[in-house]
Amino acid sequence: MQDIDAVVDDALTLFAGINDADELERVKARYLGKSGAINELAKGLGKLPPAERPAMGSRINAAKSKLEEALKDQRERIQAAKLEQKLKSEALDVTLPGRGSGLGGLHPVSRTLERAEQIFHSLGFEVADGPEIETDFYNFTALNQPENHPARSMHDTFYLENSKLLLRTHTSPIQVRYMQTHQPPIRIIAPGRVYRVDSDATHSPMFHQAEGLWIDTHISFANLKGVVTEFFKLFFERNDLQVRFRPSFFPFTEPSAEIDMSFGEGWLEVGGCGMVHPNVLRNVNIDSQQYQGFAFGMGLDRLTMLRYGVNDLRLFFENDLRFLRQFR
Ligand code: FA5
Ligand code: MG
Repeated sequence: MQDIDAVVDDALTLFAGINDADELERVKARYLGKSGAINELAKGLGKLPPAERPAMGSRINAAKSKLEEALKDQRERIQAAKLEQKLKSEALDVTLPGRGSGLGGLHPVSRTLERAEQIFHSLGFEVADGPEIETDFYNFTALNQPENHPARSMHDTFYLENSKLLLRTHTSPIQVRYMQTHQPPIRIIAPGRVYRVDSDATHSPMFHQAEGLWIDTHISFANLKGVVTEFFKLFFERNDLQVRFRPSFFPFTEPSAEIDMSFGEGWLEVGGCGMVHPNVLRNVNIDSQQYQGFAFGMGLDRLTMLRYGVNDLRLFFENDLRFLRQFR
């Protein structure tokens, strides 16, 4: 017959090491089950001399109670540990400071847009606006852009499906809309989003331009250069800026130029400009003998790149907060 004390010691050690309720019940069967160690001991009673049976019987009973007691304790310990675990995982630390609501900030291109509006306002320009979804007429035809001009192709322009409408490719249609409803003298700046089928480090499919238009009786190319150069000086807060007017072509201006700015290694084109073509004035019933003027379209994203030293313009529109937070 197995030694009772040894059985009890084994069982107690085993129970104490179990942390899982199911496991504990499985191990219980080994000792208190039908063919468990305690029953085996009880079966052995019959083989003892009658005189020893009562004493051995009560030792077996005591062992059984001890094991049951130990099981009960261990069950409670497992239960308590489980509860504690649960409370811990669901704990709410009411002493933690609040997360606060992060302060937003203006997008760097919005900053440029507001800054451009402010500076032009200080130079006497009114702010005008127009729709981002345009007709072919305002975006091209009224701007003296011939039917077969490459900018009208699907490669360059986003057309709306099953419609004659398109996403404006520049802010120049605002010139036309404004001149249809206002007589000279006209002096406006019109910033906004524009769209082209373009994407590289200096081109994004959605970008921002600011259109400028000054129409009056004695406006010359010298005024254009003066206003644009003054704007850049104010915008970049520098007097030593290198600005270049590079002869170019736009159907709606004559003569025309691209505006380039020097930056470190080279030149970056930041806008287009020129003297408003007489055909454009005629299209909006403004007397081109009496009035003339200049227009320009500035790339605001490019100005933002130069101002902050960003080398890829698409970064502005990836919405990566790590990038955008730097401009707050
Ligand atoms: C124009 O859009 C003319 N409407 C400008 C103009 C207005 C000329 C009035 C004469 C009179 P251009 O295609 O060059 O021109 O674009 C003007 C500026 O927009 C460029 O110099 C550049 O700074 C910016 N730009 C053009 N395409 C993109 C693009 N995909 N992403 C970011 N900036 C661009
Ligand atoms: Mg250009």
